[in-house]
Amino acid sequence: MSFIRDPRVTVFPDEQTAARVVAVRLANALQDKPDLVFGLATGRTPIALYDELARVTISRNLDWSAATTFNLDEFVGLGPEDPGSYRRFMQEHLFRHTNLRPERINFLVGNADPDAECDRYERTIAAAGGIDIQILGIGTNGHIGFNEPAPGLEARTHRVTLTIETRRSNAALFGGRLEQVPAEALSMGMATILQARTLILLAHGERKAQCVAALVNGPLTTELPASFLQLHGDVDLILDTAAASSLTL
Ligand code: GLP
Repeated sequence: MSFIRDPRVTVFPDEQTAARVVAVRLANALQDKPDLVFGLATGRTPIALYDELARVTISRNLDWSAATTFNLDEFVGLGPEDPGSYRRFMQEHLFRHTNLRPERINFLVGNADPDAECDRYERTIAAAGGIDIQILGIGTNGHIGFNEPAPGLEARTHRVTLTIETRRSNAALFGGRLEQVPAEALSMGMATILQARTLILLAHGERKAQCVAALVNGPLTTELPASFLQLHGDVDLILDTAAASSLTL
């Protein structure tokens, strides 16, 4: 089911079908533009997409060697080799299945000087010509990347204090031990994210239904950072039936 509206909403019967369709779209985009700049996300949501991308990489013999990637965020204090780091997550789920060149994989380095690192990241994104397609998930509290609900949002890449809810939903990366989840992270800001030319947000499951509905039907508010996606002219929301269940379309 697809609806012409802004953001565009497409509802799939299940997560797997959604992942397959988005993987084919990304593969086609890469074949059309081999030097595509991808923005990537972590979390449980994009795992099925990365599995499908790995599959389509083999079946089409996809060449990633001219492509560039930027991930949204990373935990403060964790180096790229740390098993709980998002950098390791991406290596495991996507990068190792592709021929992406290591120097074209861009990541916020969690154990670097935070302020200098955030500046470096903004400059690197700009030098790459900006992000063509940004993949996004959404937190149950409406966070995007690690832009948490707050009275005000930082526009650019910055250091954030994570909410307990967000730390809890990331605990699986740390063997379920909440106390091991870092209290802070570095994240692209909402302005950085909104400058990507195309945004594709994936959400599935009942627990995302409320924030997805608020993203689409609610007012713009820093208390739901995802609501700012309404300001972007090219956003696809890729949902399963459960995540779409509270929408008014
Ligand atoms: C994490 C990430 C977000 C992600 C969100 C949702 O905190 N920083 O980029 O979208 O959680 O996670 P999940 O997909 O596991 O529900």
